[in-house]
Amino acid sequence: MSGVADGGGATDVSGAAGFASLRITRVVRETADAVSLVLDVPEHCSSEFRYQAGQFLTVRVTLDGRELRRCYSMSSAPVQDELQITVKRDPGGAVSNWINDTAAEGVELHAAPPEGRFVLREASDAADVLVAFAGGSGITPIISLVRTVLATSSRPIRLFYANRARESAIFARVLDGLADAHPDRLVIVHHFDEDGGVVTPSAIEHFIDPVDPVDSADYYICGPAPFMETVEKAVLKSGAPGTRVHLERFSVAQVPLGVTEDSAEPTEEVVIELDRNRTNAAYRAGNTLLQTARMAGLRAPSSCETGSCGTCMARVVEGSARMLNNDALEDDEVEEGWVLTCQSLPASRKVHIIYE
Ligand SMILES: Cc1cc2nc3c(=O)[nH]c(=O)nc-3n(C[C@H](O)[C@H](O)[C@H](O)COP(=O)(O)OP(=O)(O)OC[C@H]3O[C@@H](n4cnc5c(N)ncnc54)[C@H](O)[C@@H]3O)c2cc1C
Ligand code: FES
Repeated sequence: MSGVADGGGATDVSGAAGFASLRITRVVRETADAVSLVLDVPEHCSSEFRYQAGQFLTVRVTLDGRELRRCYSMSSAPVQDELQITVKRDPGGAVSNWINDTAAEGVELHAAPPEGRFVLREASDAADVLVAFAGGSGITPIISLVRTVLATSSRPIRLFYANRARESAIFARVLDGLADAHPDRLVIVHHFDEDGGVVTPSAIEHFIDPVDPVDSADYYICGPAPFMETVEKAVLKSGAPGTRVHLERFSVAQVPLGVTEDSAEPTEEVVIELDRNRTNAAYRAGNTLLQTARMAGLRAPSSCETGSCGTCMARVVEGSARMLNNDALEDDEVEEGWVLTCQSLPASRKVHIIYE
């Protein structure tokens, strides 16, 4: 990595789509396949880069002439007064390996301001337990939540942290230190696949068992898809209300092949209002609303493109759309017509959406 990571050098922070150059001030080799980067935010965009625990940045790099964007959650907490991301190698992955191989102090990374709804619920009681589940690199937003809750409240925390092997557990020592400093508030259970296989539903049920009352705790889950599925099912089975279960998915939920629009009649017209301009976009079967907006040449907002962050939300004012995945919108928002355009297929002859 040398100079500005994508060769651009611009600090064009302007809302969700704006990018700024953040200088790497420290590189911490966490494990053989994960690295943390402490990033310096220039004074002139410090307010845009204020973040909540659990949020992520969108990093933009240009590799072999291709512009790539990837989301990375903050592993620091706002109370630490610094901004750190942690990147784990994805075997065969372009950006994660490039960052792990080349990150160095002084280099500038282009990033868009923090986004995401995997954040602490505002109205929580001092007695409400925070129950967190992290698998592998899923520890990044979770450790930010844990640090924040320890520093800003008296809430008890239970953390279940799964890894393939002991040496791949990111922040193992930091977490041990936090547990030692807060023995009455923080309980950590480690799971290592190398000891007896992957996480089972009964391991999760056993872990949740002491949570009482189960319906006033908040549950935060982040990790590989199969891990998240096992945990989510077990948590819901234990009686936890769905509104208290928060999910952050790292992997992109692609629109499955063969999935097309649901409309009895094919979709013919997609009207998109963005920045008060109205566009009649051509629709190609199988495309999401976000893809449709892009094909029409619009710079519609987006970030994670997995249905996690809510950046791409728009309101359907005519017709209907079906979401393939929604980890960001609340039920009442969906009832009001909001959809995540990165995950929505049109479901009527005409669909009219407004980005507000
Ligand atoms: C909200 C959010 C927060 C996140 N936070 C973090 C974080 O804190 N830390 C972290 O490490 N990650 C995080 N991620 C994941 C991160 O954004 C990237 O997805 C991850 O680093 C992989 O990117 P990559 O460019 O290395 O891999 P990619 O190049 O995108 O490849 C991903 C996988 O697909 C495979 N692949 C690529 N192309 C093909 C192909 N043509 N055919 C078949 N397979 C292919 C690769 O081998 C690899 O296994 C987060 C994701 C989201 C959505
Ligand atoms: S871009 Fe994040 S939910 Fe659509």
